Amino acid sequence: MRFLVTGAAGFIGSHICERLLDLKCEVIGIDSFTDFYSRKVKKSNLEKLRENFNFSFIHENLMTVDLFSVLPGVDYVIHLAAQAGVRSSWGKDFKTYSDFNILVTQKLLEISKNFNLKKFVFASSSSVYGDSAALPMTEGDILRPSSPYGVSKLAAENLVTLYNKNFGVPTISLRFFTVYGPRQRPDMAFHRFIRSILRNEKIEVYGDGEQTRDFTYVSDIVDAVIAAAQSDAVGEIVNIGGGSTITLNKAIKIIEKGIGKKAEIEYLGVQRGDVPHTKANIKKAKKLFEYSPKVKLPEGIINEINWLKGDNLLCRSAQNF
Ligand SMILES: NC(=O)c1ccc[n+]([C@@H]2O[C@H](COP(=O)([O-])OP(=O)(O)OC[C@H]3O[C@@H](n4cnc5c(N)ncnc54)[C@H](O)[C@@H]3O)[C@@H](O)[C@H]2O)c1
Repeated sequence: MRFLVTGAAGFIGSHICERLLDLKCEVIGIDSFTDFYSRKVKKSNLEKLRENFNFSFIHENLMTVDLFSVLPGVDYVIHLAAQAGVRSSWGKDFKTYSDFNILVTQKLLEISKNFNLKKFVFASSSSVYGDSAALPMTEGDILRPSSPYGVSKLAAENLVTLYNKNFGVPTISLRFFTVYGPRQRPDMAFHRFIRSILRNEKIEVYGDGEQTRDFTYVSDIVDAVIAAAQSDAVGEIVNIGGGSTITLNKAIKIIEKGIGKKAEIEYLGVQRGDVPHTKANIKKAKKLFEYSPKVKLPEGIINEINWLKGDNLLCRSAQNF
């Protein structure tokens, strides 16, 4: 089985590639090392992968790469490459979101329709729901994204569905809910909090910390992506949550306990685009491909703490966040 993984050098992409190689699959990774966060970090995410002879890597931007020379022989496309992050999606940077999240997805779908793929898995996001009145968030809910990032992911998700309906591309879109664990992006809350506490720096919390998030451990996301790729489900949109919905303040308490140190907290204003609560209804994922998140928050947080403790390079190179 040959997989094409876009965004292979990223947080989630590198974990998916590693698991696929463990399963003896052949993996082609594409990543352009965008400057959203340190390229050093992305290069180090690839280190273990590069040792495996079943892994090949294309260092190119999806906007320009010749996909007609990449897709022949590919069975599965796992499309993760995107400009992530809610807060930075306002203003002039939206062009990057529109290029990398919408245009790139359309290009990949347009070319994929010429090949006999077994599945095209798209990484969508809980951000498509926005400030949903109803919790838990369910796939059929009305979608009102609260950020330009959410708008770009929803547009891409709609394109994915259109290419399934009109051209029979065997797609599935997975709406990931806040993913955490080793190699988490340096802009994300747990990474920032753990890094700052380890360095005896105060942590910055946007809002009053009483916002809730459905945190999903990265290995559960990997399980979901692979199960969705191998399932018979086609043309579906499916939530992937971790079943660990908790306030940020409570999550900080777990981090403090894991590190054995109290955090000095500075509460800042609510950021535009941040939603107060997320919680996934994961019944559909359970039904379609027996998804069941396994890693509980305290265990997952300890794993992320141990990773950040052990990796000084990442601590140093992430200093822009
Ligand atoms: N991390 C989360 O909590 C979360 C939640 C919901 C959805 N998602 C989605 O999951 C996917 C992966 O997220 P992540 O957290 O691993 O992000 P990430 O930034 O770590 O990984 C994305 C990778 O894609 C690459 N990339 C971006 N645009 C590219 C382009 N045009 N050409 C080639 N490479 C490009 C980047 O260099 C990066 O390595 C994204 O689609 C994101 O929207 C993530």
